[in-house]
Amino acid sequence: MTEDLDECYDVIVKLSKKGGQLIHERIWSQKSVQFKSCEVDLVTETDQEVEKLLISSLKSKFPGHKFIGEESTAAGIKCELTDYPTWIIDPVDGTMNFVHGYPNVCVSVALWVDKVAEIGIIYNPVLELFFSARRGQGAFLNGKPIHVSQENDLSKSLIGYEFGTSRDPEKMKVVMENMNILTPLVHGVRSTGSCAQNMAMVALGGTDANFEYGIHAWDIAAGYLIVTEAGGVVIDPAGGPFDVLSRRYLCACSQDLADQLVTIIKQHYPERD
Ligand code: IPD
Repeated sequence: MTEDLDECYDVIVKLSKKGGQLIHERIWSQKSVQFKSCEVDLVTETDQEVEKLLISSLKSKFPGHKFIGEESTAAGIKCELTDYPTWIIDPVDGTMNFVHGYPNVCVSVALWVDKVAEIGIIYNPVLELFFSARRGQGAFLNGKPIHVSQENDLSKSLIGYEFGTSRDPEKMKVVMENMNILTPLVHGVRSTGSCAQNMAMVALGGTDANFEYGIHAWDIAAGYLIVTEAGGVVIDPAGGPFDVLSRRYLCACSQDLADQLVTIIKQHYPERD
């Protein structure tokens, strides 16, 4: 089956803007909040509604397509990436931010075909940041081309860092150790509270590298394409190839900077998606 990727792109641009509008309208309103894996892993009715909107509209437009969605997976649907065109969706990345009214929230959605990333969108509707990429066509912010930074000196780099939504003591230990390792060695460490936006910041050149353990395919599937199309690299944090289902990634402006980080950071291996 040959996909009309132009059509897929046009459809998902419109849908992510529609989903983004719901997020923007509700970010400073009262929300109904529930827990998932633990008391800091949150979900709201807006997460569920935006995912439903995206999946039902995409299903009616592209009946043969498959889906991996954060809230569908939480509801028990198997997370499976096949060669079929598959939309990988995080309806609200930065749910904790959304719950608190902190405006680093986004819709993150990607289309992978034959296990290759073809389309990636990360849309923050509150700050009006629309990151997009298509394979082989570059990466864009609000329609303008973006490129990673050229900073290969670790001591002058700004690193995107996240504490995550797991309170597993083994994982927390590694997160804290890496924070202690990195902070004295780099210019600074920044946290957006959204994995997708951490990756978008590397693509934009706002930060030079970023890595995290314990995230899921829906957090990184769009960011992977946006970073690589902006000229950066996305690898496994131990140095091997990136695997979208591994719940591990490291992205950087260059292989050189990525390699320097690989040699100093502690590793953590969560259960795969
Ligand atoms: C979370 C955010 C956060 C990251 C967590 C993710 P969610 O996604 O991306 O920055 O540290 O690991 O689960 O739950 O807001 O979609």
